[in-house]
Amino acid sequence: MIGRLNHVAIAVPDLDAASAQYRDTLGAIVGPATPEPDHGVTVVFIELTNTKIELLHPLGDDSPINGFLEKNPSGGIHHICYEVDDILAARDKLQASGARVLGSGEPKIGAHGKPVLFLHPKDFTGTLVELEQA
Ligand code: CO
Repeated sequence: MIGRLNHVAIAVPDLDAASAQYRDTLGAIVGPATPEPDHGVTVVFIELTNTKIELLHPLGDDSPINGFLEKNPSGGIHHICYEVDDILAARDKLQASGARVLGSGEPKIGAHGKPVLFLHPKDFTGTLVELEQA
C-alpha cells in the first residue's frame, strides 16, 4: 500500500543553524523557511536526489513540536512520510486493522498542498508515520 518515502522530518531547536548546516556543511539544496500555521510549525525542505528532509521548528505556543523538543532539546527525527495513492482508502484499511489515526481522522492539507494523515507511533514500532496522497 505505501509507496515512496516522501520525506524524513527532523525537529530542530534552531532552524537557521540547521538550515546552514545542511546547506554549507552537507552541501544540500535547502529551501526557504515556510510558516505552516495550520500545523503549528515552520518548515524548511531539503531536496535530495531520492527524497526530502523536512526541518521542523515550532510555530506558536501550542505547536505539536514543543513537547518533542522539550524531551529532545538538541532535536531529533520526528516522523517519516510515506506516499499512498488513495489516502482515504489507506485510512479505512488501517483503521479496520486497529491502527489509530491522529486528530479527527480527516486528512489535512500538508506542507506540499496535498492531503496528509498521521498514524499513532505506538501502533507503528514507535515511529510517527505521516501518509501523503501523492
Ligand atoms: Co511531514
